[in-house]
Formats: sequence, structure tokens, C-alpha cells
Amino acid sequence: MPRFSLLRAIGLFLFSGVAVAPLCATPFRTPVSYDEADRRASALLERMTTEQKLALIHGHNAFFIRGFPELGIPELYMSDATQGIHIRPKLPNQMARSTAFPSPIALAATWNPDLAYRYAYAVGEECRAGGIAILLAPGVNIYRQAQNGRSFEYFGEDPFLASRIAERYVRGVLDTGTLPTVKHFLANNTEFYRRISNSIVDERAQREIYLPAFKAAIDAGVMAVMTSYNQVNGEWTGESYPVITQLLRNSLGFKWLVMTDWGSIRDPAKTIRSGQDLEMPGDRHLKAHARRLLEAGEVNIGDINRMVRSILRTCIAMGLHDRPLKDESYLSKFPEHEAVSLETAREGIVLLKNNGVLPLRPTGSGSILVTGKYVDEIARGGGSAAVEGYAIVTLRQALSETYGARVEFVSQPSEEQLKAAAAVVYSVGTFDSEMIDRPFALPRDEEAGVLRAVNANSRTIVVVSSGGGIRMTDWNDKAAAIVYAWYPGQIGNRALAEILAGATNPSGKLPMTIEREWKDSPGYGYIPEGWELYPGRKGPLENDKNVYPIHYHEGVLVGYRWYEKKRIQPLYAFGSGLSYTTFSVRDARASRRRVAVGEAVDVTCTVTNTGAMAGAETVQVYVRPLSPPLLRPEKELKAFAKVRLAPGETRDVTFHLPADAFSFWDPVRRNWTVHPDRYEFRVGVASDQITAVTDVQIE
Ligand code: BGC
Repeated sequence: MPRFSLLRAIGLFLFSGVAVAPLCATPFRTPVSYDEADRRASALLERMTTEQKLALIHGHNAFFIRGFPELGIPELYMSDATQGIHIRPKLPNQMARSTAFPSPIALAATWNPDLAYRYAYAVGEECRAGGIAILLAPGVNIYRQAQNGRSFEYFGEDPFLASRIAERYVRGVLDTGTLPTVKHFLANNTEFYRRISNSIVDERAQREIYLPAFKAAIDAGVMAVMTSYNQVNGEWTGESYPVITQLLRNSLGFKWLVMTDWGSIRDPAKTIRSGQDLEMPGDRHLKAHARRLLEAGEVNIGDINRMVRSILRTCIAMGLHDRPLKDESYLSKFPEHEAVSLETAREGIVLLKNNGVLPLRPTGSGSILVTGKYVDEIARGGGSAAVEGYAIVTLRQALSETYGARVEFVSQPSEEQLKAAAAVVYSVGTFDSEMIDRPFALPRDEEAGVLRAVNANSRTIVVVSSGGGIRMTDWNDKAAAIVYAWYPGQIGNRALAEILAGATNPSGKLPMTIEREWKDSPGYGYIPEGWELYPGRKGPLENDKNVYPIHYHEGVLVGYRWYEKKRIQPLYAFGSGLSYTTFSVRDARASRRRVAVGEAVDVTCTVTNTGAMAGAETVQVYVRPLSPPLLRPEKELKAFAKVRLAPGETRDVTFHLPADAFSFWDPVRRNWTVHPDRYEFRVGVASDQITAVTDVQIE
């Protein structure tokens, strides 16, 4: 298998930390071309009985596409998910272990697409080790509101950032020979009664906010798309011709496998005619009804053949019919995967506030009292995305290794103990999971605990482990420092300890806004009157309720676009994150004063590390039209770069802004449009910290 040994060599090259850019300069090419795969699929179709075809268009044994050894069609195993391999002990031939990576939102917080590539490459290699042909990841739904139980699985609120992470993620998985699946298509931005929610979202918001990350994944070569549980504008996505054939296939140009989310369709005939290829997990509608529908003439064999052909073509193109699916030689790569997991935590943890208490050097004196929720238990998200990991490093272990006898763990500290400590590390957080949305505010007792600590000790460092934003408003001012640690993965607590101690300089930036109050959110009000958030996955089933609408009234004003337009000051703006050094970003200049519609512009700025420690700053470029013909956000992220600088070092950084950086979706023409106008480039280190501005006239 020369191709894969070459890929392994590339992997080593990547892990050595050399830039990965050249790899993606060329589009991904499937091992077998589309046309050749199509030809082989047609040949197989001719040999298949109707029975075999009907058995292929739905899964079996929950996570498999059925195989037909007599035809040379292998059985294919699919596994979740974005942050590593979810091992399912009840299924056959599972790996003994898999690496738990920091949650995808932490990956987005690194603002480092090359790291996303390496993260995904590592996950893809673990798939190869475990015989996983299809990875059910990445999830790219946009963070519309903080309560969504699945935000930890996604890449934040901004379509540009999410796209840059998603495309490198997809490419990383593809380059290992594993077939990635982008999910959940479309507008699946809540888990609250997810099977009966109807996202009412206009076309412009779809195009500008909810679709770009899917489009980026498609352009990067993603080979499967999973539809969602919800309706979009009254259409169940998994059985919708407008959603699957018109939007996903015809408009976005997706040509490979489409599958349902697990147990998400209702109407088998509609599903068969929609452009959908595969019902998962497989024990439901198509298995029970496809034959009857065929015999009754409600669907025809051409519809079934289309589905079968798409499944076969995709799998053949990826080489899945041509090589052994399991390659245990990849097990030797696990230490490298763990190193990527650690590096992601180092770069993804966000220092939101620091009054000087951090770094808390191990050489200092006085005791450090550690308390709170995730001291002995690793914080993690649940549901299909959960990854157990191995060789777990708890906060207790990581801090003991770093601070030795100075650190003192007290589960219920008294007022005196809190006061007496030289510093307090207080862990708070949420357990987020699919099927549940959770309140923005922490439970009352947890909230009271943090308040008590920050009041008792002015050197209290709050560590937040959550998959999304939580309410920090009442203790934010009094906390000496706030560190957003997300779900760290198996070894991320070591990165956290390094950051607390100053051995690693934090460089993560929020991939979403954290509001002061839940009512400030653009998503506020999505819960119908009289309905309530339910705790736990075994909350009330959807069956006894009717479909409820979620009106995306805010249109394109999601995240910082909303807070800025509405003049609502968030607690922490999108793109925020501190370092132990300081940076200046100044002197923005455009490569040209005037350009024609359709032309690109380069913007350069000068970045200096003005502090005493080496560090990385993520410079962000937001675009703003000065006289738009319709409502436009005041800022839209269109370029960013993570710049690493030694103390005192200065560098010019140039950003390329292609013509589409200025475009919006014109709801009348129903197309992307660039309006001739003056466009400002607002350059800074967070969406609310713009330090350099320049502009260009587009004529
Ligand atoms: C989730 C999907 C997941 C599938 C299989 C569903 O509940 O929504 O994201 O891939 O289960 O585990």
C-alpha cells in the first residue's frame, strides 16, 4: 500500500511541526476517481438482487453498512465522532482504547487550522487502527445560543472560523484514508426536544451563517453528509428533496453519500425520493417499508438504484472496497496522538481575565487550595461524541505534579480555609450532551460556592469546564482570574497546569461570545411558553408533543454580529483571550486603494510582542461595508492568523482577502453579490478590540 505509507511519512512530517500549507494547496483526490467508482458501482448494481439493494439502503447492527462478501462488497463500520473514537463495547471488534482529544470547540479556540488538520489526522489514524471506515464527524453546526447541549462538538459562532477549522479537519481525516462525515445538515442549533423542533430560518441567514462550514467541508472533499433531526422551514431534513437534492446536492455541489441521523425520518417514500441515500441505524422505516412501497409503485427501482449507486460509488472511490479496513500498525501512533491532544489543550485554553495572579509560579510560597467540580473527575461532554480516553490526567494529578506539597485539595472548604490560602483554584462547569440543552446559569449551589470563594479570597482563579458559555456575571469582577478550559481530553489538565504555572503561555481565543445574561442572546426565547428545559438524557420524550417552531428572527445577526448591532455589551466578546505577554497590532494598510468588484485585496499590519515572554497572538481582520444596500453586520471575520513572536519581535502580517470576503447573499437575486462601496478592514485581537483600521473602495 504505497499510498498509505506515503501518508504516514507525511504524518511524521506534520508532527514535527513543519507548516502544512502545501498539503492543502492541492484538492483532495479520491484513491479511485468518481467516474471509475461510478463505473464499478454500476457493474455491481447489475449483479445485485432487489433484496440485496433494499438491504443496503439502511444500516444494520446500529453502526454498519451491510456487506455482501459474495459480491466483494465489504461491511463498513461507522463510528463517532469529532473529538476521538467513541468505543462501543457492545459492538464487535472494538479497539481497546482511543485517545480523548479536547472538545472541538476547544479546537476552534486554538484558531489554528493546521492544528485542526493534525488533530483530525490523528483521529483518522485511530479509525484506521480500529477498522472504522467512516468517521461520523466533524459536526459543524453554528453556535447560535449558549444552552445548546452540543456546542462542545462544534466550532463556535462564526462561519468563517468554523469553515477554516472544518476544512482542515476534513482534509486531515481524508488524508488517512478514513471517510469523514460532516453533520448535522441543517440548522440543528438546539438539542431541546430535537426531534420535534422546526428551525425557521431565512435563506440569507442559511447562506451567510449556517451553510458556509458545510460548504467549506464539501469543497475540502468531505465524502458524507449526515442530515439532522430537526425540520428546516417545515421540512424534515432527512427526507426533504429541497434540502438534500436542491440545496445540498445541486446548489452546494455535494456528490457523495448522504445519510440520516440515527432514527430521524418519518416518511419512507418521501425519504427515498428526496436524494437521501442511507437510513441509519437501519431497523426502522426503509427496512420495514421499502419493499411494499416498491411493489405498490410509490417508489420505483430507479430511486433505489440511485441510493445504492451513491453508497457504493462513495465507498469505492475512497478505496474501501480495495484494502483491508483495519490496520493495527497505526496503534504505534497513539503516543503522537496524545501529543496532539495535549498541544490542542495548550493552544485552546482561553485566559479570559487575569489581574496578575497568574502565572502562579510553582516556586512561590503559600498553599494553593483546589476545590470544585472537576478535581477528580475529568470534565467531558456526553452522548455519541463522548470519548473515554486512557491514561486520564485529572486536575488533582496535574496540579500535584506541578505544585507538589503546596497544593491542598479540599472538597468543602471552610471560610477560614479559603481565606488562609495563598490562592484558590476553583473548578466549575457543566456536563453538556446531545438530547439536552442546559441552563446558561450554573446550578444555584455551584454559583453560591464560587461566590463564596471569590469573596473570601481575592486570589481566586476560576477554571471553567464547559462546552459553551455559562453565566459568570456575578463573580466575574471579583475573580482574580478566569480560565476557560472547555473539556480538556485525557491529558488537557496537564496543559491547564502548565498555563496556571506559566510554563505555557496561553493563546486560545473565544470562538463565541459569552453574554452577561441569557436574555441578551439572539437565541433567547426559543423555548415555547410553558415548556421547560429537562435535565438528563432521559427527559420527556418528544412523542407526546407537537412540532414547535424556533424562529431565527435575528437572521444573519448571530454571535458578535448581534451583540454589536444591538449595542449589547457581552461579558466576553468573540475572539477574546489573554496572554502572559502583550502585543501591539497597528498600522493596517491595504495593498490597493481601489479595486473592481470581483478583485481581491491584501491587508498588512504590524504585530509586535511588547512584553517579556514569547507568545502567540491571533490577529483578526473584520470587514465592514460603509453604505450597504441592506442590513449588514458591523463586523464580519474574513481573515485571521496566529502569529508567534519572541519578546520584542515585530513582524508584518499580510492577509489575503479574496473577492468573496465582501459579498453578501442577496435575497432578491438569490445569489452572492458584492456591492460597490467603501469597505473598512478592522484589525485587532478580539472582535471588540480593534486597534488598526484601513479601507478600500470597491468600484
Ligand atoms: C447523533 C449523531 C451520531 C449518531 C450515531 C445521533 O444521536 O445525533 O451525531 O453520529 O447518533 O451515534
